[in-house]
Amino acid sequence: MNIINIIEKKKNKQELTEEEIHFVIDQYCANKMPEYQMSALLMAIVINDMTEKETIALTKAMLDNGKILDLAIDGIVVDKHSTGGIGDKVTLILAPLVASVGLKMAKMSGRGLGYTGGTIDKLESIKGYRVNLSKKEFVDQVNKIGVAIISSNEELVPADKKMYALRDVTATVESVPLIASSVMSKKIATGSDVIVIDLKVGNDALIKKEKDAKRLANLMIKIGKSYHKKVICVLSCMEQPLGNTIGNGLEVLESIEALKGHGSKDLMEVVYTLGGILVSHAKNISFEQAKEELEKNIQNGKAYQKFEEFVHAQKGDLNHIAISDKVISVKSNQSGIINEIDAMKLGNIAKMMGAGREKEGDSINFGVGMIITKKIGDFVLEDEELLKIFVADNNIEINQLLDCFDIKKDFVNRPKMILDVIE
Ligand code: URA
Repeated sequence: MNIINIIEKKKNKQELTEEEIHFVIDQYCANKMPEYQMSALLMAIVINDMTEKETIALTKAMLDNGKILDLAIDGIVVDKHSTGGIGDKVTLILAPLVASVGLKMAKMSGRGLGYTGGTIDKLESIKGYRVNLSKKEFVDQVNKIGVAIISSNEELVPADKKMYALRDVTATVESVPLIASSVMSKKIATGSDVIVIDLKVGNDALIKKEKDAKRLANLMIKIGKSYHKKVICVLSCMEQPLGNTIGNGLEVLESIEALKGHGSKDLMEVVYTLGGILVSHAKNISFEQAKEELEKNIQNGKAYQKFEEFVHAQKGDLNHIAISDKVISVKSNQSGIINEIDAMKLGNIAKMMGAGREKEGDSINFGVGMIITKKIGDFVLEDEELLKIFVADNNIEINQLLDCFDIKKDFVNRPKMILDVIE
């Protein structure tokens, strides 16, 4: 088999065989296929797409070049994945919440690249929190208290790690088959039984159109089926930041408030939808019954107790969460109703402030970020607060922040949060 012929075949819109796909991934993982050839192939895939058969073969080849964890956890293990959103702190709330009603969530999460940190960066804003546990510590904690969140430092799917880094710098991230194989290889490798995927759709997400999101969802469900995994995809709206904060420490504080029953409506709708689906599948009860169990545990404090329990088990000190004490209130320069919020732009500003990374290995300032006081559909008066920013220094362009808000005089509908559930 010859790599150039395989690239040529994809360039000419022909379907690759399972053997050809396996050969490419084997060669790439063994460092026998240079990055420039993989870049060419990835770009041909972005432009000419892949069939369902090719995508399933790609996922299998990626998994065959890594390992599948056998966690030996008692009971049904559930997992969750998000395709990435600004202000997305759902895992921090969902994991202890579903554990509080008896589910097991053995979560491996990543660090962020781009706007803000990933779940692991957020948890590291809690002083002392251990993101690296041994496999035994991880399994013991999940068996004992139902939840642990650690860094996916173990190289379960090296093919994805290498390809994702390359896609990030070659404009080849936005491809349905590449996203499907990337997400599903990681989810299958971590060995859970029921997987809910929060597939973000909208102007501020990787997937902009509902049509593409539906195709991606169906593809991930099919891949899951071929490994006997139950996969449910929730298409959720990403047209503004999720919840009220962007930034690592601030997002932890918002998650704590949500677990204590003070979560914003948009954030809780996503949490209850994902949680209700996981609990209904794991316990074989209706979605409504499952959601009721979750709401009850937010109200009676059990969900927050579970959060404290797992953070303490991982040596985190909740009295010390990094938050900058330099706070600037950003006021609106006009009155009206918030029509649009450019979450990507806000996220980029947060990144420039230090909340996210430009490239892998960059350090993060856990204490910086913003609280968004006004969301789409809210009325704002001239000189009323739109945002509070938590900065490391005062070197910030307020006008850039104001530009992220489009304010109109007419009535504006709040966006619908859950667009579809596909299983
Ligand atoms: N998230 C992933 O894990 N992989 C992708 O390709 C895109 C989003």
